[in-house]
Amino acid sequence: MVPFLLVSRSAEYETRLRSLLGERLAVIPGEFLTFGPEAVVSRVPDSPRIALLGPVLNYEETKGLVEALTAKHRDLGLIVVREQRSDLEDWVDELELHAVLSPDASDDTTVGLLDRLAGWLIANGRAGEHDFDAPLALEIDEEILEGIDTGLETVADVPPIASEPEPEPEPEPQLPEWEFPPIEAGVPTEAIAVVAPKGGQGKTTIAINLATGLAEVAPNSVVLVDADLQFGDITAALALKPEGTIVDAVADAAIDELVLKTTLTHHDDGFFVVASAPSPELGDQVAPAALAELITRLRATFRYVVIDTTPGLGEHTLVTLEHVTDAVFVSNMGVPSLRATRTEFELLTKLGLMPGNRHIVVNQTDKNSGLTIKDVESIIGAPVDIEVPKSSAVLLASNRGVPLIHDDVRDPAAKAIRSIVLRIAPDAFPKRSKIQRRRRSNEPE
Ligand SMILES: Nc1ncnc2c1ncn2[C@@H]1O[C@H](COP(=O)(O)OP(=O)(O)O)[C@@H](O)[C@H]1O
Ligand SMILES: [Mg+2]
Repeated sequence: MVPFLLVSRSAEYETRLRSLLGERLAVIPGEFLTFGPEAVVSRVPDSPRIALLGPVLNYEETKGLVEALTAKHRDLGLIVVREQRSDLEDWVDELELHAVLSPDASDDTTVGLLDRLAGWLIANGRAGEHDFDAPLALEIDEEILEGIDTGLETVADVPPIASEPEPEPEPEPQLPEWEFPPIEAGVPTEAIAVVAPKGGQGKTTIAINLATGLAEVAPNSVVLVDADLQFGDITAALALKPEGTIVDAVADAAIDELVLKTTLTHHDDGFFVVASAPSPELGDQVAPAALAELITRLRATFRYVVIDTTPGLGEHTLVTLEHVTDAVFVSNMGVPSLRATRTEFELLTKLGLMPGNRHIVVNQTDKNSGLTIKDVESIIGAPVDIEVPKSSAVLLASNRGVPLIHDDVRDPAAKAIRSIVLRIAPDAFPKRSKIQRRRRSNEPE
């Protein structure tokens, strides 16, 4: 009997749990979820009594797993391993979990919880008296274990269900599966600048997620330009190794379209990135006119060009605004940033540089800021289009190098950012599966 099952993407957590549960733990790497929950369930040895799901599984994955696991193992005890977060209650309510366990919980807490859940399952006739027999905090003495045939199976010993070779947890990128889909005749291209009068307002976060959302509508026909020439950090936030940078993209050689393409870095979510300059000094050498030229050239190849900008209204940002169809203005709830946004609006209007479509985003909204949205609107002198709440999921996603809207689809900030995508591409669907269906029927080629 292997009573415990762990499905997680954290090798570190796996090692910890293994040290607590020894051979009574079966582990299925969360990477198999790429092939759907059934790919995991079909690999579960024996009939586990308690499944620990996470860490590093998102809501949709966890939901799929819970459904597939309980369909086969009706009496299974379910624990989600996840840090305490505001949306966790929804998980517990909607997934009928038995417990939530922090991945950072002490060994005592972890074992204590497993013990209690085991006791409850036995008391409710969902597990047998002896299913969990060995003491939970099993100290493995290697010498004693050697020579003892426990008769227990670990996942590694179980032959794969299908005869085909098991998929690699992280498939090596083969030949690029992507190409630059031709822009259909008559389809207007759009360029969207994300601007803010000051740093730290959330420009980069919004630019990344905007590109990710637009890429669902126009796969591989979106390019995200890191034009924060001094402190651009998009490749870091997306855990990408840049193929080239904006300095290469504006170089004379890149006048050639093919050369320009080699300076772009592809992201698996279906968009390309023009990486920031390797240093602020090199960034300063990118002339405003060269940036304008780059935007124009990218618009000839891509359906959507999203541009993250240098804070403030320097020459580069002004020239960018001159070459875009949309501007997303980002400010947090701080009075100085809101005032600066108002000044920015007034200046742009005076210069005749306000792009045709304007989207006002107040980021990191917080009930405790002391300001209401009405106050915000009267300070900036314009209606707020989107409020993006403050959420710890933003930093988590960026630390994990995954766009928030794909890292945590149910997070309130992710949902708010999706509504910015919808303003720009009203036909964008919130669900990827729907996008894929739609993409097939609309595929230009
Ligand atoms: N809605 C939000 N909730 C919580 N933190 C946020 C939110 N938006 C941005 N942040 C955090 O604020 C910091 C600045 O965001 P960033 O997108 O880098 O801003 P900018 O590009 O304007 O300097 C980052 O650490 C980011 O994780
Ligand atoms: Mg930034």
